[in-house]
Order: sequence, then structure tokens, then C-alpha cells
Amino acid sequence: MINIIPSKLTIVVLLLFVIGFTGETQELPSKKYLEQYNAKMNRTQWFREARFGMFIHYGPYAVPARGEWVKSNEKMTTEDYQKYVEAFVPSNYDPAAWAAIAKQAGMKYAVMTAKHHDGFCMFDSKLTDYKITTNVPGRDFVKEYVEAFRAEGLKVGLYYSLIDWHHKDYPHVGNHPLSGNDAHKKKVQWDTYLKYMHQQVEELMTQYGKIDILWLDYSFDDYQGQKWKASELVSMIRKYQPNIILNSRLEVNPGNSEKGRAFDGYGDFETPEQAIPEKGIINIYNQPIPWETCLTLNNNWGYAANDNEWKSPETIIHALVEVVSKNGNLLLNVGPDSQGNIPLPSKKILAEVGQWMNVNHESIYGCGRADLQKPDWGYFTQNSNTLYAHWTHPKIGYINIKGFGNNIDKVFMLHNGQEAPTATSWWGNEDQDNFFINVKTPVYHTFQLPDRSDTVFKMILKK
Ligand code: GLC
Repeated sequence: MINIIPSKLTIVVLLLFVIGFTGETQELPSKKYLEQYNAKMNRTQWFREARFGMFIHYGPYAVPARGEWVKSNEKMTTEDYQKYVEAFVPSNYDPAAWAAIAKQAGMKYAVMTAKHHDGFCMFDSKLTDYKITTNVPGRDFVKEYVEAFRAEGLKVGLYYSLIDWHHKDYPHVGNHPLSGNDAHKKKVQWDTYLKYMHQQVEELMTQYGKIDILWLDYSFDDYQGQKWKASELVSMIRKYQPNIILNSRLEVNPGNSEKGRAFDGYGDFETPEQAIPEKGIINIYNQPIPWETCLTLNNNWGYAANDNEWKSPETIIHALVEVVSKNGNLLLNVGPDSQGNIPLPSKKILAEVGQWMNVNHESIYGCGRADLQKPDWGYFTQNSNTLYAHWTHPKIGYINIKGFGNNIDKVFMLHNGQEAPTATSWWGNEDQDNFFINVKTPVYHTFQLPDRSDTVFKMILKK
């Protein structure tokens, strides 16, 4: 008789094999998983090279000017909100001017709200009158936006809210302004809302040419995945826009774990909001996955007249460099006012970021993580055999590219191509693996940091 019960020894050997010597489970990705992963990586290639985009939150909430959540925060009924909707008649909607600002800032793509949670459509949807063409006849703002941004050579994305505080068949759940308000209890036909939502996405996917990114927002509790009929929705989207990149908000945000994500859902990239993850984001097999930090310039996405807590250009440059050093993107927000103007402080910040990008963009586009520990004087980014040292936190003395000296061929200052003097020891510090960029020798006595926010050194690595 064949003994089919494995011996104790066999079990131990098998376990050792599975667990490996690190003590962690070492599963291998299935063929199907790898195919899916590769498809996501291929689709997002241009996106991962672009690294920097503009987020635009624009809609009737710009009239009360207290951010895009005003209807929910102040628990308004649809009637309360209506006065703002009616007053939303922008006299200066000029997306070509926005596109020029984005381009000048060094951005490569944009994502604009086609519909935010308030349900108001910035496009000429056939399915509702709650739309821009009711207020400004003949002008489909989404159409004008995609045309203007494409004309500047920028890729175009659309934000579409899964949540809808206006639709009669969207329930009073989650952040709905009337959620928990018994006086306004209602029965909804969920399928009617779903049909509306799917058909609107279909309009966006078919009426505006090639759309590069669809940014769906957002899932919560059991309002996720199949509740949105996500697989049907995604196949329809991909049928019309086979190369479109989808964010991951058809599912609930998987949190900030460093252990890695399943990354087997509908999205092609993750969307940390107002945050930069500790390390980059990886899947459970330790492979990098695409991600994009979305960030406001003050503390609001939609126009907020009294929010003057603007981030400095330096903070933004540092955020951009940090995300790139971790294989991520930055989607930086502007909230135009009710007339269509990007607020002056935003323009000023973007102009300064643009000046830095103008000189230093090659340390951002096409770059990603370098296989080096983060130094305390700044960050590294890398593009094949070119390594960039971002001197964001200049201190006295020198920059030490520790552990890499033998691999570096030449060092230049990125802003003017000047060769930078280097040294392998400094003031008695002669560890084998030190490599100093000598920024304080007499040559540099008259030297002013070309950029106080981030002076970049470009290093050509030996092959
Ligand atoms: C959130 C907010 C929303 C904003 C978005 C940007 O989900 O609800 O107002 O548009 O994040 O990431």
C-alpha cells in the first residue's frame, strides 16, 4: 500500500521551502498576475515618466468659495445649494491660460473635475440639465479643457465622482449632506443611479477623443467594487479607451502598509492623498507599483477664498523630488475661482516651481528611485546610469555620496554643466566608501547656491 500521509520530515522540508530562510512567505506571482501587472506597467509607462501633473477642481462650489465639500460640510439641501449653481456663470473660463500655466510649471498632464460629489456636470451630458451648458449655453467646459491642454502637448485626464449628492437615486450615505437627516429620508432606485453613472462615464469616454487618465472618486464602506458594477464599468471604459489609465478608487484605499498591496484590482495606480508614503509603494511580491500623491497648494481642492495657508514653492519642489525618489508622481491641485481664474498665489508658486523645473527637469522626467539610502542632505533620483543628487537641505561642509564613490565617473552641476570638484576624504574622514562633492573649497567662495530649494548635481555612473 502506498503511504499517502507525508512523513514529519517531508512536512518540515516543504515548510522550509515555502517559508524560506528569511522567515517570510515567499510566494511567487501566478502567470495571470504577472500578465496583469505587466499590462498595468505598460499602460502607465508615459505616466511614470511624466511624474508631474495638474489637478483642477472646478465647479459651482467656487461661488460660496469654501471648498468643494461645502454642501456636505454645511449640510445643505439641494435647494440651499441651488443659488450657487445658478450664480456659477464664469466670465473668464479660459482653459488655454490654465494649460499655459501647467506647461510653464513643467507639468506633463492634467486631471480636471468633469463631475464632483455635488453632481454638477462640467460637460454637456445628455442625461441631465444639472450641467454647465444650462448656465453657459453652447460651452462644454470639458471639451474646451481637453482641446486646450492637448494643444499644449499635455496629456488629459478627467475626474469623475462616483458619489453624487444631487441625483435623486443616490442614497443619503457616507458624506452625503443629508446623511442621517430623517426629515429628508427617501427611497432610492440604486440601479437607476448606477445606470446614470455608467452612461455618463460612457459619454466622457466617447465624446471627447482620447482620454489619457480617468480618475474616479471614491469608494467607502460597502460602496466599492461590484457595488458600482465595477467590472462592467471598467470593460466599457477599456472598450472605448483601451490605453486609458485608471486610478484605484473603485475600491477602498488599502491603507498605508509597507508590506505591499495585492494590486490585482481595477486600478493602474494608487492615489495617496495629501501624503507621501514612507517608502514607495510595492505589491506583495516586492515589485514597484505606480502611484501618485495628490496635493493641494493651500488646504482645499476647490476654491476657498479665506484659505491663505499656501505651501511655499520650496515645499512643492521638495515634495516633487521626494515622490520621484520613491518612484511616484505628483498631481498638484489648483482651484480656480468662480470666474475661472487660478488664484494669484497659486500662479506665483507654480511660476517658481516652473523656474526650477526649467533648469532641473532632467532630474525628474523619466527618473525614479536610486538604489541608495536616503541621505540627510537631500534625495537621490536616477535615470539609468545617471544619478542626481538633490541638495535640498544644504548644511556646512560637503555632500557625501556614501557607498558609491567607486561607481561615479564625473559630477556636474545640473544648472550650468560646471564640473564639480570631488574628494575621497574630508577632514580626516577617510572611510573607504566615502565620496565627497566639494562644494565649499575656495573655487566656490564666491559661489551662491543656484537654487536654495534644491541644487542638483548630476553624476554619470561608470558602466
Ligand atoms: C477626496 C475628496 C475630494 C477630492 C479628492 C482629491 O476624495 O472627497 O473632494 O476631490 O479627494 O483626491
